[in-house]
Amino acid sequence: MKKTWWKESVVYQIYPRSFMDSNGDGIGDIPGIISKLDYLQLLGVHVIWLCPVYESPNDDNGYDISNYQNIMDEFGTLDDWEQLLDGLHQRGMKLIMDLVVNHSSDEHAWFMESRQSKDNPYRDYYIWRPGKDGREPNDWSSFFSGSAWQYDETTEEYYLHLFSKKQPDLNWENPTVREEVYKMMTWWLDKGIDGFRMDVINLISKDPKLPDAREETPELGTAEPDQKFPYHFGGKYFVNGPRVHEYLQEMNEKVLSKYDIMTVGEAINVTPEDGALYVGEDRNELNMVFHFELMRVDAGKGGKWDIRPWKLSEIKAIISKWQTLLHNKGWNSNYMNNHDQARMVSRFGNDTRYRKESAKMLGTLLHTLQGTPYIYQGEEIGMTNIRMPSIDDYQDIETLNMYQEYTAAGIDPDKVMESIYIKSRDNARTPMQWDDSEHAGFTTGQPWITVNPNHDKINVAEALKDQESIFYYYQKLIALRGEHDIIVYGDYHLLLPEDEQIYAYVRTYEGKQLLVVLNFCDQPVHFQLENSVQYEQYQLLISNYTVDEQQDIREMDLQPYEARVYKLNQ
Ligand code: NOJ
Repeated sequence: MKKTWWKESVVYQIYPRSFMDSNGDGIGDIPGIISKLDYLQLLGVHVIWLCPVYESPNDDNGYDISNYQNIMDEFGTLDDWEQLLDGLHQRGMKLIMDLVVNHSSDEHAWFMESRQSKDNPYRDYYIWRPGKDGREPNDWSSFFSGSAWQYDETTEEYYLHLFSKKQPDLNWENPTVREEVYKMMTWWLDKGIDGFRMDVINLISKDPKLPDAREETPELGTAEPDQKFPYHFGGKYFVNGPRVHEYLQEMNEKVLSKYDIMTVGEAINVTPEDGALYVGEDRNELNMVFHFELMRVDAGKGGKWDIRPWKLSEIKAIISKWQTLLHNKGWNSNYMNNHDQARMVSRFGNDTRYRKESAKMLGTLLHTLQGTPYIYQGEEIGMTNIRMPSIDDYQDIETLNMYQEYTAAGIDPDKVMESIYIKSRDNARTPMQWDDSEHAGFTTGQPWITVNPNHDKINVAEALKDQESIFYYYQKLIALRGEHDIIVYGDYHLLLPEDEQIYAYVRTYEGKQLLVVLNFCDQPVHFQLENSVQYEQYQLLISNYTVDEQQDIREMDLQPYEARVYKLNQ
């Protein structure tokens, strides 16, 4: 397996709006991030992924971009951004930027032109269609509820928006659009950035026939459109669409291949087989994808908001498939939360009695798999989900639209709120908790979103005082990757696939072995190491409990959420 810096790196994701406010307007900003660079260096991360900071009307907090080559006023200036890049590079860290080119904002100059007339030179930058039988051109739903089409009176046609109506989809079929995107990417790369995270990049190619989801999807039936939910997921016609690999290979040839950078594409609904097509080392597309299989492990048939309990055996099956299938072919990205997902300690661990133990255990998993680990801001101090008193306290467009749609369809608002408490994106977007002061040290003004009241106990200042904190455990996990090649490059072999309490695996590299044992439940459990794992000596590398180092590792009594990593045979 080829060695590269991005395989050996740990990435830290910053959601700027919620990270650190420097000027008291209640909104995080770039100077705020700069003031925390020493903190990030202390943690030991190598790469920062910055969520969008470009000019934006903020319908979707920056994922609706009105100017790709300038910084949003609320976040600062291009000069501030240059200082951030310098500050990171001076500290030996790298910066990757979010690339959001499936869609722009409807306030982008291209779209404002495009909507003017059918023969405007920018018309074909977006996807316009006439209506069908007095309705939308097809029955696709938007990811943010309702139809994926918006009628525009000026030209009496509809435009496609897979996300909000202020996020019109760009038309990648148009070569001029692609050239514009490549030019913009080159402009940022020439400023010295170290790569891109690419937003929903596997959606950029649509089947140009734009067929109805209902007609072509037998499981939806042929009945008249449901009056309450008339729109359907049309993923078949835009997830991994017909030309997506052609576009990415073109982008690679014209832009990416010219720089020593890393790329990670957000890719919804991909299997490991699809994933290998994006990240295969011989395919010249991307380095990594973020897949969603693990993020769907607690989704029922009705999707994200139809929540069912996850099973450890399913988590293991998903991770193991990706570990095995990409081995020697491509590279994994390992994450359990980000700005779109609930907090991982609340979702996969225990955010009350065993918060610290379970946060460390989950971190141990993410940092000892093959692949690059991604830490989402606040994960390193075990930040948790939040229950805000009323729907009016929520800010996220996905949450608000879903609440409206579901309650209008007659679903009990209390039930809808329960699912919001578990899955809303705002769980991850509450301000970073720096200390126990009124607004958690995030701002001196009024924060744009509620601060989690538990900041009186869960905060950075507290973590830095406590040698046993999650922060220092993460610091050690990151350092260990740097010291042991096997953690980065070793292959992966799962033990006990059916066990619903223990996740255990062995990594192997150049005659060395690593044994990882994780207790995923809130009870003590007994672990027995199978005889096929042979060793002469063992050394404990890290654990979240005090472990008797003489204890035989063939038989382990594990505490609730205990994690242990041993190096064997050295
Ligand atoms: C994925 C981003 O992570 C999410 O925050 C955003 O709402 C959608 N893509 C649309 O850009």
